[in-house]
Amino acid sequence: MTPAATPAAVVCGIGGSLPETVVSNDDLAAELDTSDEWIRVRTGIAQRHVIKPGEATSDLAVAAGRRALDSARAQDGTADDAIDLVVLATSTPDHPCPATAPLVAQRLGLGGVAAFDVSAVCTGFVYALATAASMLTAGTARRALVIGADTFSTILDPGDRTTRAIFGDGAGAVVLRAGDAAEPGALLGFDLGSDGAGAEMITVRAGGSRQRSTGQPAPDGDQWFSMEGRPVFTEAVLNMSKSAQELIDRVGWTAEGPDRVVAHQANVRILRAVGDQLGLDEQQIVVNLDRVGNTVAGSIPLALVDALASGGLRPGHRVLLTGFGGGLTWGSTALVWPELATAPHPVHV
Ligand code: ACO
Repeated sequence: MTPAATPAAVVCGIGGSLPETVVSNDDLAAELDTSDEWIRVRTGIAQRHVIKPGEATSDLAVAAGRRALDSARAQDGTADDAIDLVVLATSTPDHPCPATAPLVAQRLGLGGVAAFDVSAVCTGFVYALATAASMLTAGTARRALVIGADTFSTILDPGDRTTRAIFGDGAGAVVLRAGDAAEPGALLGFDLGSDGAGAEMITVRAGGSRQRSTGQPAPDGDQWFSMEGRPVFTEAVLNMSKSAQELIDRVGWTAEGPDRVVAHQANVRILRAVGDQLGLDEQQIVVNLDRVGNTVAGSIPLALVDALASGGLRPGHRVLLTGFGGGLTWGSTALVWPELATAPHPVHV
């Protein structure tokens, strides 16, 4: 008797987008008390992309989404109008209200599909994958576009040399279809977690109900993003390593381990420490933050697109995705990388 198929969400398309404007470390050093050397040594970042005035997160999300839809159509010939769900991970929506996903769906010509935002900062893409995968396996949707997009350049204090050095704008997207866990590309499981006790470590203090209900204008500086770098570093290493290991054990890769780990791209020293904790070699850890910085919810899918374009990630690789971010939040998922129609390198919007 043939064993019953286990429903799963299967990756069948991918794409990314980066804004045209590049800000190098030297560009930052020309206006802030920092240096190319400090940023490279402490973070591994050489440059980042930023949007132009007037652009917004939805512009990047639409561009990445369109490339993922093209990739999926080339892969299995399914028309875009088969998409019945759009999940957008972002902490920098176009507006505080409404969500940005419906606008993205409309601009992509997807009709009146279900569309909503997921907010889990740098873990957003993993949470969005988990949400869409659950809806696909439950039969609530058949084919989903999952996007991670952020434009942190719009919420950084122009005078803060630490956050300006780290963050960049960008978006990445995948198409998921309802399928079977035995297929390459199937998301094999999720480990998700949070710790609200660390909420103050990564925050934008003003602009929400807590501040607005006072009826007073936001204290100076509270409109900007703030992060306690040192404790966040420690928590990122701890929680990504733990979550990744939990998932490795859960999906049964304990003996062989993953071939590639695509971790949230925040700091190359964090990536190395996670690799050490998991007992992996340097070439097993995907790195693209040197060219894009920390693109928040765009980080993991952009790193996937980059690794595909460079040949570092190939069909058949056991791939572990792991993220950590504000909330605090963390999460991991795993898949065997499928044969896909060539993923385009993330080009400009
Ligand atoms: N140029 C020069 N000096 C700098 C810069 C800079 N760009 N930034 C900070 N410094 C200085 C500090 O002012 C400090 O100076 P002081 O000793 O005179 O006070 C010194 O460098 C050391 O500062 P630290 O903050 O301790 O530096 P650290 O080595 O920890 O690096 C960093 C800072 C890069 C932020 C690091 O802590 C980090 O990567 N943290 C984790 C970030 C992360 O993982 N984020 C993920 C989640 S983000 C999200 O969810 C949106």
